[in-house]
Amino acid sequence: MEILAIETSCDETAVAVLEIKGQNYQVLANLVSSQINIHKKYGGIVPEVAARKHVENVIPLLEKANINKDNIDVIGIVYGPGLITSLIVGLETAKTLSLVWQKPLVPVDHIKAHILANLIRGNQGELLPIKFPALALVVSGGHTSLVLMKDTNSFQTIGQTRDDAVGEAFDKVAKLLDLGYPGGPIISQHAQKADKTAFDLPRPMIDTDDFDFSFSGLKTAVRQELAQIKVKDKKVINNMAASFQQAAIDVLIAKTVKAAKKYKVKSILLGGGVSANKELRNQLSQAVKKELKWVEFWQPDLSNTTDNALMVAVGAYFKYQQNPYKYKNYWKKIKVEPNLEL
Ligand code: KG4
Ligand code: ZN
Repeated sequence: MEILAIETSCDETAVAVLEIKGQNYQVLANLVSSQINIHKKYGGIVPEVAARKHVENVIPLLEKANINKDNIDVIGIVYGPGLITSLIVGLETAKTLSLVWQKPLVPVDHIKAHILANLIRGNQGELLPIKFPALALVVSGGHTSLVLMKDTNSFQTIGQTRDDAVGEAFDKVAKLLDLGYPGGPIISQHAQKADKTAFDLPRPMIDTDDFDFSFSGLKTAVRQELAQIKVKDKKVINNMAASFQQAAIDVLIAKTVKAAKKYKVKSILLGGGVSANKELRNQLSQAVKKELKWVEFWQPDLSNTTDNALMVAVGAYFKYQQNPYKYKNYWKKIKVEPNLEL
């Protein structure tokens, strides 16, 4: 089966073509056109600008992907959650292709796609054989959730952030430290050789009985600490970046380990833009080795952590497989769902 996938839910325009035969896959195209340089000057994503850029980028990207339409069996499209005006561009493009080429169109949830990004490792190989039940920690600019999976089509949210997403907290703290946008990669860079114990920041909700998170208080604590410091030199900035990053990671790991024990999962999957964070990857991997010896830990290839269309192709594959007849002429029924919940 060959799947063409399009993703335009936020500020990256992405197109991928993935071939799957049994358990084997081959990536035929995986293109992302990033808008980071455009939104940088505004200090965050401007939805109207993002949507206009998707309009400019999506067709040239499809052309670059060198698609042979006769080989395409299924088209996958992200229909939510995300920015409404951005989502519409991708969906209308995909609907047009679906109608003109007479190919089934499968709507894919962006969050499920982030989780399923784990199944692809490198440009070709076998789809990762996940052992179920599995627990996924989804950490992105819009989400922080713990998701229980019984199989590749079953997702249940058991906890999520009550305010800011962890990626959003990275972005806001970077702003407080005058480091620019997006905050995640910059904070982790500045944190690299700094002292993560320099500032005693809170670990919000770390001991609560549920699996929810809260990151807005952590961001406020950073602001309050900074307000008390007169000279904000490089050392202070780096130490604050490291202290904040560690506080966020501590909470993410504590809740993930607790949920994995309670639900007796066989694997843990990491996903979403913040899963590019090397400290989170390393520390979570170590925690699983130490406290959950029987559990397999997986994290996506670094190139598939932030938004991409390859993960959407995987999502479309499993959904289509489950019910292939449903998606014939299905384009008529698909609407964008900016606030889509799992
Ligand atoms: O999944 P994603 O590309 O878009 C959303 O679905 O939100 O995630 C983007 C988020 C941003 O908040 C960005 O700061 C964060 O992922 N991020 C990181 C790193 N790379 C990207 N956060 C921490 N460390 C990183 N290395
Ligand atoms: Zn995302």
